[in-house]
Amino acid sequence: SDPERDRLIQAYEWSAKFYHYLLKNTEHGTAAMEYLRSRNFSDKMIDQFQIGYAPDRWDTLLQFLEKRNFDLAEMERGGLLSARGEGKGYIDRFRGRVIFPISNRTGKVIAFAGRVLGEGQPKYLNSPESKLFNKSRILYNLHQSKASIRKTRQIVLFEGYGDVISAWDAGVHNGVATMGTSLTENHMAIMKSMADEIVLSYDGDRAGQAAAMKAIPLLEGNGLRVKIALLPSGMDPDEFVSRYGGDRFREQVIESAVSTVKFKLIYLKKNHILLEEDGKIAYAKEAIEIIAMLHSSTEREVYLREIASELDLSYDSLKQDCNLLRASMQ
Ligand code: UTP
Ligand code: MN
Ligand code: MN
Ligand code: MN
Ligand code: MN
Repeated sequence: SDPERDRLIQAYEWSAKFYHYLLKNTEHGTAAMEYLRSRNFSDKMIDQFQIGYAPDRWDTLLQFLEKRNFDLAEMERGGLLSARGEGKGYIDRFRGRVIFPISNRTGKVIAFAGRVLGEGQPKYLNSPESKLFNKSRILYNLHQSKASIRKTRQIVLFEGYGDVISAWDAGVHNGVATMGTSLTENHMAIMKSMADEIVLSYDGDRAGQAAAMKAIPLLEGNGLRVKIALLPSGMDPDEFVSRYGGDRFREQVIESAVSTVKFKLIYLKKNHILLEEDGKIAYAKEAIEIIAMLHSSTEREVYLREIASELDLSYDSLKQDCNLLRASMQ
């Protein structure tokens, strides 16, 4: 074992408790508490996810760690403190931010994400990569969701912290997040070892939808079944739960997740103006390219009929083009 690693884990555990305490039980936490309330975070969620607050001062955590005889250089390497600009010494890394503890698979806190209250840059300040924390290997909330994942063999994959937490409150207990949109080989290996199916529930904005398009072939390439949860445009899962409630989120978003083909067709459609002939023809052509890849002729017929009625074209001509394309693919 690595003693520095063990000490850092201890420091993160105590710091998480400290920040959680400051949020809930002191005046330092009042504004942060109001912010969380305005976002519909309940006490239950704040406890379950051990959300905290780092006051907007230079030495709150510094003093806490000093009193407990932690080696401050070690704490800086671990991302709890920052080196002071010019002279010697250290300051708190997280100041004036809501703290979301990030745990490893066994439930040990190994990093923090700190969110500004309201607007500000960066929106989230994360712990740096360290002995403990490698972002490309960590799925947020895996320690709490793994039981449900094993049981359902399904993972709901989100972009962010708020999405996982709101979904949990809505009864979706197999949710994890990549903390941003990039999905690594490591993430996929972890998911593949625990589940057969991924429900992609990325943000309903351009970035999220483009990230989903990229993730589909990667996940399918790893032998995972993929479904896509659809959201009103521009909305993320957390906002959907806040606005429409958990029941609607579960039923209309997660349980109504669509096939990847359906999603690709919807995505494609957004990029074409169907009122113009050019747009209509280009959309039909690209849609047929997606549908032609399907092995099942029943599935091909279902989607071709949908496109036909949508574009006011005959099923026969679409089918003919699709079959020509399939013949040329062989
Ligand atoms: P989003 O921009 O979608 O943020 O980034 P969000 O989760 O909806 O955040 P809220 O609701 O405004 O609080 C998705 C995820 O990308 C990572 C975080 O993990 C975030 O949850 N991210 C985003 C960062 O690490 N740093 C940033 O500055 C922004
Ligand atoms: Mn608590
Ligand atoms: Mn996003
Ligand atoms: Mn988001
Ligand atoms: Mn959000």
